[in-house]
Formats: sequence, C-alpha cells, structure tokens
Amino acid sequence: MHKDIESIVYSETDLSSRIEALGKQISTDYKGKKLIVVGVMKGANIFVADLVRKLDLDVVIDFIVVSSYGASTESTGVIRLLKDLDENINSEHVLIVEDIIDSGLTLEYLVSNFETRHPASIKICTLLNKVERRKVDLEVDYIGFKVPDEFIVGYGIDYAEKYRNLPYVGILKRSVYE
Ligand code: PRP
Repeated sequence: MHKDIESIVYSETDLSSRIEALGKQISTDYKGKKLIVVGVMKGANIFVADLVRKLDLDVVIDFIVVSSYGASTESTGVIRLLKDLDENINSEHVLIVEDIIDSGLTLEYLVSNFETRHPASIKICTLLNKVERRKVDLEVDYIGFKVPDEFIVGYGIDYAEKYRNLPYVGILKRSVYE
C-alpha cells in the first residue's frame, strides 16, 4: 500500500468484480443498441477503460473535460467546459461515466447541457457515490459502490493530481492534506 494511504476501501479485486457486473447489467439494458459512452475527464478515464471492455455492445467512446472554479476540494457549482464532445449525440443513447459523484453539480450541468442536443436517452454511471455530500437531486442509473464522506483517492481520483494511478480506492492520510 502507498505510504500516504490510511486504508483501502475497495481493492483491485473488489473493483474488477463490481465493474464486470456493471458491464453485464449495462449490456443487457442496451441490448441491440449503439451506445455513446462519455467519460468525464480526468478522473473517469481509468474506470471508462475497464468498463467499456466489459460491454457486449456497439460502443463509441467520447470524452469531455470539465473543471469547476474555486478551491480544489469543494465544488463551487460553476462548471467550465474545457473540451466538448467530438460526437454528435442527437438521437443517440448516451451514458455519462464518472469516477465519483460528490455534490452532483458537475453532472447536473452536463445532463442539462446534453439535453439541449436531443439525445435518444441519457443515463449516468458512476463508480463511486458520495451521497452524504449531494447538493442537488440527481438520478443515478448505475452505481458501483457507495463511499463514506472521507478523502478518497486512487483508481482515477486525485489529490493535487497525485494518486490517480493507484489500482485501488483508498482513504488519504490526514497528514497529507492538513
Ligand atoms: C471530480 C469527479 C467529478 C466531480 C464530482 O472531478 O471526477 O467530475 O469532481 O464532483 P461534484 O459531484 O461535486 O460535481 P474533479 O473536478 O476533481 O476533476 P478531475 O476529474 O480532473 O479530477
């Protein structure tokens, strides 16, 4: 385990078996349909890479880059779109994939932005769900795991751009950020 990690919340094995199950569920739900998977950068890239390989569907992968203004540990609700979709999602089925949902403000923004482009459907898939921090009402269709309101890093999630490459999800030691 990395020296800055207090404890592991979900191991590599926990993650891969849950992602396999999510992949099966999504493949069943979209059977016979084309799916545009939209990863929200940067955090979701590792989850997207593992999830799409478990989808038995015609999949198009796209990425969007967003950033919220303000301090890095608190969402302000003001979202900047740094890179838009390459794909035209009009009349397409869209699955937005996130590593973690916290306040829900990023996804609230993305869903309302995408709705103006009239896709056939929009659903949300997140690996981790931090429900205690939710500020807006958000319908999340696929959830990997619930996480406690702790400083979570790893498997795509960073603190000051570090720890994204950890193969597990863990709690960062307080001494690192205090
Ligand atoms: C994280 C995460 C989500 C967002 C969730 O991204 O990947 O996109 O925050 O927070 P919210 O529900 O409060 O909006 P972050 O802004 O840290 O950027 P990153 O993906 O590049 O790490």
